[in-house]
Amino acid sequence: RIAYVNGRYVAHRDAAVHIEDRGYQFADGVYEVCEVARGFIVDMTRHLERLDRSLRELAMAWPVDRKALAIIVREVVRRNRVVNGLVYLQVTRGVAPRDHVFPSPDTPSSLVVTAKRVDPAASARKAESGVKVITVPENRWERVDIKTIGLLPNVLAKQKAKEAGAQEAWFVDPDGTVKEGGSTNAWIVTRDGALVTRPADTGILRGITRTTIFDVAAKLGLRIEERAFTVDEAKTAREAFVSSATLIAMPVVAIDGQAVANGHPGSVTLSLRQAFFDVAE
Ligand code: PDD
Repeated sequence: RIAYVNGRYVAHRDAAVHIEDRGYQFADGVYEVCEVARGFIVDMTRHLERLDRSLRELAMAWPVDRKALAIIVREVVRRNRVVNGLVYLQVTRGVAPRDHVFPSPDTPSSLVVTAKRVDPAASARKAESGVKVITVPENRWERVDIKTIGLLPNVLAKQKAKEAGAQEAWFVDPDGTVKEGGSTNAWIVTRDGALVTRPADTGILRGITRTTIFDVAAKLGLRIEERAFTVDEAKTAREAFVSSATLIAMPVVAIDGQAVANGHPGSVTLSLRQAFFDVAE
């Protein structure tokens, strides 16, 4: 495997950043994960747009310009012969002697890009059985709309899910409403077939997959209600699912050990999944 690190394509096993990289010391960086399907990078434009927003919100410079980054991403995919899989890209505020305040403006941002293959049959199998989620109290900062590499609450929540035999943890506000998963957006399908997901203006990441699912829903004639929903509402919903670049639309079959509907993946979720790649660009 080959990785791109600050201007060089290097063997993945030898790829490394400096010990004074601000990503390493302060989690002072942002990232994107894109899906590669049949050789195409899914929703690349939207991912680069969100990266631009994350960088701007943190007053961080682009490491290379947008066009160059797109070329690097495609080159990493090509060099790793990824037809179906994932691209990871990370930008940090660069390497500088440890000091909390920003380094001098001429410090170049660090850029790392990796790609790996994922067997599409494995995720198809996963969708046939669905995933279980647990709920955890929201304990993250208010700016989770920025895709930063500071993911410790997400790490702890997902580890807790794993220890409970589940695959995802939903962060829940004190009022009982679901924010999102540790690495996914959260959805339910109501009895009358509408898709419900939390508005992305506050307190969640605006998932690229979430946005594309809006397009898919329009194509399938499904109504979307962009509003908060509670854990109780989710437990009694017709279906529940999570979305991300890695999982697309993945059925949720249990919440805190309680089955969602009949405990099997729902047909609306599976039809969204089916139609996704006809709509995604
Ligand atoms: N996670 N919410 C959070 C907290 C996420 O970390 C992610 C993505 C999403 C879904 O966003 P998108 O549809 O753009 O992937 C929502 C990536 C996949 C990760 O951390 O691995």
